Amino acid sequence: MKLLEDKNVIITGASRGIGKGIAQVFADHGANVAFTYSSSEAPALELEQELKAKGVKAKAYKSNAASFQEAEELVAQVLEDFDGRIDVLINNAGITKDNLLMRMSEADFDTVIDINLKSVFNMTKAVQRTLLKQRKGSIINMSSVVGVKGNAGQTNYAASKAGMIGFTKSVALELGSRNIRCNAIAPGFIETEMTEKLDEKTVQGWRDGIPLKRGGTTEDIANACLYFASDLSNYVTGQVLNVDGGMLT
Ligand SMILES: NC(=O)c1ccc[n+]([C@@H]2O[C@H](COP(=O)([O-])OP(=O)(O)OC[C@H]3O[C@@H](n4cnc5c(N)ncnc54)[C@H](OP(=O)(O)O)[C@@H]3O)[C@@H](O)[C@H]2O)c1
Repeated sequence: MKLLEDKNVIITGASRGIGKGIAQVFADHGANVAFTYSSSEAPALELEQELKAKGVKAKAYKSNAASFQEAEELVAQVLEDFDGRIDVLINNAGITKDNLLMRMSEADFDTVIDINLKSVFNMTKAVQRTLLKQRKGSIINMSSVVGVKGNAGQTNYAASKAGMIGFTKSVALELGSRNIRCNAIAPGFIETEMTEKLDEKTVQGWRDGIPLKRGGTTEDIANACLYFASDLSNYVTGQVLNVDGGMLT
């Protein structure tokens, strides 16, 4: 059964990793996918072709999620390219710049907050008018278990991810009466191309500490997004779903 037939979706940061996994699963479920990247043009264009081959509309856009103006321009362009409708927004773009607080520069704090948190404000503002007119929409924010629990060496990242949760709950309260839902996902340790480069012994140690005894896949996160994006979750808003193999349990 296809759960997102003909729905128009925007995903930020889908040239690789979790965003790419979401785009692939969503296209399999019939969604038209507009997605952004920051600098990975070749992988983004490759993904665009891959999604189109699944029989849906797909387009890659170079857009800096941290820029208010670029977010506005992006959404205007997506509305033009995708028949004036946006059903789902997934704020997925994110970065880390880890360091102990003692060594963290002001620039590294500001950059992480701008790309991870301010981007969510930018994109939500940009789609709000369209969702209000439609009287329907689902916004999904990619937080992290680190935003729920905190993590030494990641004060900037944890603050950005915790901020996303407060933003999510507030949007849910503010826009619920218009049938606009807003939820967050808090992934645990997700294995991507990036984690393949890490020392195998260290990674195995992380896996051993997870109740389900493995790292998550991008598909595990995509499937949680599928639930929040589809009508299966029509009565669910303001929630944070930990998708972490039981890590925080
Ligand atoms: N992987 C995990 O274990 C994990 C766990 C918890 C939460 N998360 C969260 O899940 C999300 C995705 O993580 P990931 O592991 O898939 O990351 P990733 O592999 O590093 O991919 C990040 C994506 O975001 C894009 N991006 C970066 N800065 C951007 C900007 N300023 N504007 C627009 N796009 C930008 C990148 O584009 P380019 O390719 O062009 O750089 C890329 O497509 C992040 O928000 C992350 O915090 C990940």
